[in-house]
Amino acid sequence: MSELENFLDIATEAALSAGEILRSNLGKIESIDEKGHLGDLVTEIDRKSEKQIIKIIKRHFPEHSILAEESGELLSSQSNYLWSIDPLDGTTNYAHGYPMACVSIGLLIEGLPKVGVVYNPFRQELFRGATGVGATLNRAQIKVSQASKLNQSLLVTGFAYDRRETSDNNYREFCYLTDLTRGVRRSGSAALDLVDVACGRLDGYWERGLKSWDIVAGIVILREAGGTVTAYDQSPLIIESGRLLATNGLIHEQLSKSLIEAKKMDVFR
Ligand code: IPD
Ligand code: CA
Ligand code: CA
Repeated sequence: MSELENFLDIATEAALSAGEILRSNLGKIESIDEKGHLGDLVTEIDRKSEKQIIKIIKRHFPEHSILAEESGELLSSQSNYLWSIDPLDGTTNYAHGYPMACVSIGLLIEGLPKVGVVYNPFRQELFRGATGVGATLNRAQIKVSQASKLNQSLLVTGFAYDRRETSDNNYREFCYLTDLTRGVRRSGSAALDLVDVACGRLDGYWERGLKSWDIVAGIVILREAGGTVTAYDQSPLIIESGRLLATNGLIHEQLSKSLIEAKKMDVFR
């Protein structure tokens, strides 16, 4: 087994274990706190799930660094390995008992996304990917869709928690692309959006205001499934920018151009 496959297996162990915490507690939340922005929630299950993931990662790789949404950075000096963990992606859905959420565990090696596991315990869907190893859904290989025209595509996007405080809130882009395509969905889980493009259910995804833990795992899986991930203008992705364009590759250029066009259009009729 290669080093990456070993990382993949441990990430899988952690994701399955944390996913069971999510699954068994859906609809039973007792405390919900709001973080900075209106609607940016955290529940006791986010914390419980995160504790479980960190315990497993640390047991196997005590020398690695960890960046986890609720705990922040647990840095180990000298380490080139950084685990980027979202213990519950889709917290708003989850807090309302809406079963559209997952565990997302990614690994960056020397700053590059190399391993990803996204587990949706409500559909029992386990997505895995590692650079050069391929991408799978429940152990079967997955591929992006063949849609090559925007007007035959189904897309997904999201709206960051700071949307009330900025005009860069994605509303214009959402309306513009809704007109140009078969539709634009909003799932409430960035990690699920990426893997849904990876397995061909959706053709493209864009969003801003994202954090590394939302996207590292999904990026690896999507790339290994044949997809393309860049900045909106097709330049190389900078994870820290929080802004990405992810597609099946075939509609990448069209979607990139449309996102730029949308800024200039009067889409509110
Ligand atoms: C959020 C989800 C959502 C996206 C937000 C994220 P959370 O993560 O991924 O789809 O639109 O920007 O912050 O808070 O549910 O872990
Ligand atoms: Ca998240
Ligand atoms: Ca989260």
